[in-house]
Amino acid sequence: MTKDANLEKITALAKRRGFIFPSSEIYGGLANVYDFGPLGAELKNNIKQLWWDRFVHKRDDIVGLDSSIFMNSKVWEASGHVSSFTDPLIECKHCHSRFRTDALPHENLKQCPHCGEKEGFSEPKQFNLMFKTHIGATEEESNDVYLRPETAQAIFINFKNILDTTRKAIPFGVAQMGKAFRNEITTGYFIFRMLEFEQMEIEYFIHEKDWERFFDHWKEEIITWAIEVGISKDNLRFREHDEKERSHYSKRTVDLEYNFMGDFKEIYGLAYRGNYDLAKHKLMYVDQQSNEQFIPHVIEPSFGVERTILPILLDAYHEEEKRIVLKLKPRIAPYKTAVFPLVQNKEEIVTKAQSVHQNLVALGIYSAWDARGNIGKRYLSQDEIGTPYCITIDYDTLKDNTVTVRDRDTTQQERIKIDQLQEYLMPKII
Ligand code: GAP
Repeated sequence: MTKDANLEKITALAKRRGFIFPSSEIYGGLANVYDFGPLGAELKNNIKQLWWDRFVHKRDDIVGLDSSIFMNSKVWEASGHVSSFTDPLIECKHCHSRFRTDALPHENLKQCPHCGEKEGFSEPKQFNLMFKTHIGATEEESNDVYLRPETAQAIFINFKNILDTTRKAIPFGVAQMGKAFRNEITTGYFIFRMLEFEQMEIEYFIHEKDWERFFDHWKEEIITWAIEVGISKDNLRFREHDEKERSHYSKRTVDLEYNFMGDFKEIYGLAYRGNYDLAKHKLMYVDQQSNEQFIPHVIEPSFGVERTILPILLDAYHEEEKRIVLKLKPRIAPYKTAVFPLVQNKEEIVTKAQSVHQNLVALGIYSAWDARGNIGKRYLSQDEIGTPYCITIDYDTLKDNTVTVRDRDTTQQERIKIDQLQEYLMPKII
């Protein structure tokens, strides 16, 4: 299957089943902006919860932060983003379309991918990726604010607040997830390069002498997370940035890349930011035991939420002889179960099924309800959205209080007692 065919199928399925919609569609859309529909919102929340659980709740050395998007614009001046958070852009001399130089294929350096003319391109110009707006009624420079292009800076500027309130000692990390915004000129695959996206970032504060050890630790953590959340190991590789490619703050950067059918692209970044940011914000650390004062160094693993979702969908998508199935990890699947009454016209069966459905939801097992059409069609519909278990209430249920549980991946069915459903399902879905 070609790259485009697979992406087209995922894009179509995402829209058809309510995972991802193009933004503002009824007004002709808005390029590089998407909305997450009912199932997409569930999938996204499940991924974020899993990440938070793994990196904040399950670790004593990391605490969370939820900062505002707007910050004093001096933050971005100090961090170097106002002067250096730029992409080099060239413009076609014929149609004036703009391209990122690194996004153009080598063979296209003469021919414009938009109009096809070979009049050549302008010299590269630096283009700042931050969206700028104003607070208040007047557009004076002092009122400028930026939409944050990374969640990281808010962690740095709260460094002292966090130290004062948590009594954490180095090494420790601060995690934050939330929206980031970049005025991206070029498009990417589907939700790969967006204007508005979500990041899940950790700034891990260390002693300079330990940076290599922690860099290796986080490299391992990043890939382990990617595999556990459902991205195929075979489609992942690390790539080291050379000096020219590295961001203005970084001393070493490694990208975790995903193989979009032959085209490896960054999904996560790992950077050693040295003490660049804390030094710029003039923030210090005092060791409580030795009284030593120094500026901590930082290792930064940065994960994109949408760049997690796209590889997951591509790797989960399977076409089998008679069905399309999304083999999502149960923990992140929008619904964990779907409950069906075998028939709609037998009241006892429908009532029993409703009570099974409501009990599952009350237990925190998010469950779909489907009473339409025949059972075969209901299975196919749930397979396509990745529901791991389908539970059918039938005539036997009324006699022996058992239900049929059908496994999405094997399609095997088992009879389980209703009062044992929780025990049966829980280990499989968490
Ligand atoms: N704080 C470091 C930082 O922001 P980055 O490599 O520029 O580093 C980190 O971005 C991650 O954010 C990327 O690996 C990717 O997952 C995500 N990301 C960046 N730009 C994006 C965009 N335009 N659309 C979707 N995700 C993006």
